[in-house]
Amino acid sequence: MKELLMPECPLILAIESSCDDTSLAVLSGKKVLSNIVASQSIHEEYGGVFPELAARAHQENIIPTLELALKKANVSLKDLHAIAFTQGPGLVGSLLVANAFAKSLSMALKIPLIGVNHLKGHILAHLLEDSKEEKSSNLPKKDEEIFPFLCLLISGGHTQLIWVETPENMRLLGETQDDAAGECFDKIGKMLGLTYPAGPWIDKWAQKGDPHKFTFPQPKMEGFHFSFSGLKTAFLYFIQAQTKNNSDFIAHHLADICASIQHTIVEILYKKTKAALQETGVKKLTISGGVAANSGVRQKFESLTKEQIEVNFPEKKYCTDNAAMIGMAAYYQFLNKDFTDLSAPSYARVNY
Ligand code: KG4
Ligand code: ZN
Repeated sequence: MKELLMPECPLILAIESSCDDTSLAVLSGKKVLSNIVASQSIHEEYGGVFPELAARAHQENIIPTLELALKKANVSLKDLHAIAFTQGPGLVGSLLVANAFAKSLSMALKIPLIGVNHLKGHILAHLLEDSKEEKSSNLPKKDEEIFPFLCLLISGGHTQLIWVETPENMRLLGETQDDAAGECFDKIGKMLGLTYPAGPWIDKWAQKGDPHKFTFPQPKMEGFHFSFSGLKTAFLYFIQAQTKNNSDFIAHHLADICASIQHTIVEILYKKTKAALQETGVKKLTISGGVAANSGVRQKFESLTKEQIEVNFPEKKYCTDNAAMIGMAAYYQFLNKDFTDLSAPSYARVNY
């Protein structure tokens, strides 16, 4: 191992391969020098991610994506201070590609290896700074001003409310007991014949529709837990009943259907989050994960600012899976010298 340098702004190469996007990013401290995402369109025809194909595509994409990320950041491998990779949760075959690649680089370059919890990456993504914002008059916030906060993490695999005391200390308050919010968008989109992932398509159609045209049931869950499987089933019965009488029902009402289902999902998320804010008394909220890119989610939660709640979203490009957010979580681990052993496994599931 090279003598460990502890620069204030370490140069970290981060690698994300937990699902179907191969992404590599270079960060200088919290600043994103590059963030390249190679998406895999191969899964579209299956209506979901095909794990074996995802792992193979990561293997094909990882070297060209690394080359692009280094070039865009204008750095070379020998400049780096650490290599970060997503250790879990995710598809193990996919995770192992970044795991092995990161270990090889760490060994060859003799620099530390940092295994990152993908969920922590999502939770800290709003702290990423763009390098072009250098001239901005807004000074970056100090950690004392950022933490603690409440996080609503809404992605394809997770729907959780998390108490974030510090980057190292996070506590799960509640989570979905069945489907995740993103999964609900995707499964409902599939019933409507929309391409996977359907969340962004429902968002797009919803903007032209009436959110109160159709009414769907909302679950009654204990504490801060969520549930989306009942809504999914109710939606299936609704579509079956409507198309029985009118085979063109979906085509004629797509915008109103999308607006109404999106409205219901947003209401479920909002009510629980509001209850958690009231119970914890916390005044700072971050909404993160792929579904945080949804325009209905953004509009509804931004209204909380009128109630003196500070509401933060990552930029849209940092909501869905990306390596920059893995670099963000790795930056805090680097400061704490929280490094990872070369024997580190990949995990399908991870707790805080
Ligand atoms: O965070 P992410 O990229 O991957 C996971 O870690 O799961 O989230 C992907 C999920 C997918 O379910 C996708 O449909 C959803 O985020 N999503 C959206 C939007 N953009 C992505 N859902 C609703 N509206 C969007 N604009
Ligand atoms: Zn994710």
